[in-house]
Amino acid sequence: MNIQNTVFVKSAASRDAFIRDGKPVIAFAGRSNVGKSSVINCLVRRKNFARVSATPGKTAHVNYFLIDGGVYLADLPGYGYAKVSGTEKARWAELMEAFFASGSITAGVQIVDARHEPTGDDITMAQWFHDTGTPLTIVANKTDKLKAREIEPNLLRIADVLSANDNDTIIPFSAEKSFNRDVLVRKICEFFQTA
Ligand code: GTP
Ligand code: MG
Repeated sequence: MNIQNTVFVKSAASRDAFIRDGKPVIAFAGRSNVGKSSVINCLVRRKNFARVSATPGKTAHVNYFLIDGGVYLADLPGYGYAKVSGTEKARWAELMEAFFASGSITAGVQIVDARHEPTGDDITMAQWFHDTGTPLTIVANKTDKLKAREIEPNLLRIADVLSANDNDTIIPFSAEKSFNRDVLVRKICEFFQTA
């Protein structure tokens, strides 16, 4: 698999719409604006693919992309976005709770900002992957905004704050520059399944 062919499959707004067809599902989670859609666009080498496929104004959905017929990337709504109503937040929380309880997640790609210390929400998210034994890849995105010498110490800080363990993979990344795209592609290939 080399991510040649990507199809937008669906936007799930409720638990009955979650995909469970036996193919692996890799959940892309992270704070709003951290670059989840950009990382997916980078992976599939298509500008604005993740974004244009998701219905505008309905970002509180789980968007599924099928790559090379073998693995789903699930683009999740970002957490920690202040500018939405209480009603919208409650709906988002309910949907995410259902998604994470659905037993349909094969692996997680958690995207954090390489420049900043992870937030409380980031810690909660990583904790969920750890507690459930779901393989976790931490993508420290936007490294293009850092000086080269700042990357390593920031990665160590991120690993520390998120209580990363030996099973986790941490990848310094830039969706903008496609930096380490190949590393993340290889990681995703580990979950590829022909069926
Ligand atoms: P939500 O859908 O709101 O949760 O956001 P998101 O996590 O999907 O973020 P998105 O991909 O929409 O990117 C948010 C902003 O960050 C955009 O302005 C991107 O251009 C920018 N961005 C994403 N990745 C990078 C990166 O690697 N480097 C830089 N410099 N900017 C980036
Ligand atoms: Mg997005």
